[in-house]
Amino acid sequence: MNNLLKGKKGIIFGALNDKSIAWQVALKCHEQGAEFVLTNAPIAMRMGEINKLAETCGNAQIVPCDVSKNEDMENLISKSMEILGGKIDFILHSVGMSMNIRKGKAYTDLDYKFHHDTLDISAISFHRLLQTCYNMDAMNDWGSIIALSYIAAQRVFPDYNEMADAKSLLESYARSFGYHYGKRNKVRINTISQSPTPTTAGSGVKGFGDFYDYASALSPLGNASAEACAEYCLMMFSDFSRLVTMQNLFHDGGFSNTGFSYDVFKLMENRD
Ligand SMILES: NC(=O)c1ccc[n+]([C@@H]2O[C@H](COP(=O)([O-])OP(=O)(O)OC[C@H]3O[C@@H](n4cnc5c(N)ncnc54)[C@H](O)[C@@H]3O)[C@@H](O)[C@H]2O)c1
Repeated sequence: MNNLLKGKKGIIFGALNDKSIAWQVALKCHEQGAEFVLTNAPIAMRMGEINKLAETCGNAQIVPCDVSKNEDMENLISKSMEILGGKIDFILHSVGMSMNIRKGKAYTDLDYKFHHDTLDISAISFHRLLQTCYNMDAMNDWGSIIALSYIAAQRVFPDYNEMADAKSLLESYARSFGYHYGKRNKVRINTISQSPTPTTAGSGVKGFGDFYDYASALSPLGNASAEACAEYCLMMFSDFSRLVTMQNLFHDGGFSNTGFSYDVFKLMENRD
């Protein structure tokens, strides 16, 4: 399939390095004819990796934005419309950060200042993005906005810590804002709940390797890769998913609906 996104204009948050899910999304969107702006926190850009991605994607423009700041968000949305020459058709929110995990704090010993920051960056930022676009009337009718989530929003994965609460809130915003934006502009808002994926954020979760192997053994199709996730995002940005909104969409090789698998037994037997 070629040029699935031809003529569409977007914003992609969160490409830190070539392991990032957002990085893969940017590559696929470029391949399929979209034009977009890349963004990340100013501090994340110091490594300069995003410049390589921008070059590969037809010299895409980069606009820094710390998602916890209203003024950064407003600047990003207005600059993006200027750069792209009009309203936006698709946005990927691929942002997550847990201060308590970073500082090695357990879920039963949370620092609440850190917890506020985690919720602000990983979840409230999604509402901030939606509200900024809504108030600036920045989205074209039938536009599509996606945020990335994880199944710890529904089920307990103890080491996922406070990010579970952040993801629950994120998914709730997609439903609640999806109603209002759908009524006014037919804009659809969904979350994609992705398999464990070896990225910088993913690998920061304690016991990530075990998590990853367990999920892979339980899922009949195995874990979904970052590249496969990018393909799913692309489909959600395209006109082929116009009536899908306010959903949390599992992209996990069947993990979320599987209760038992012999492969998990085999995995346990091989552990010391
Ligand atoms: N990796 C996984 O196992 C997995 C599974 C399910 C969902 N997700 C979600 O996918 C999304 C992308 O993560 P990833 O796995 O590609 O890891 P990643 O580390 O490559 O991406 C996380 C991004 O968040 C950005 N970020 C952090 N604080 C920010 C701020 N204040 N302002 C702007 N950007 C900021 C980082 O710079 C980084 O680019 C996250 O929401 C994550 O929770 C990841």
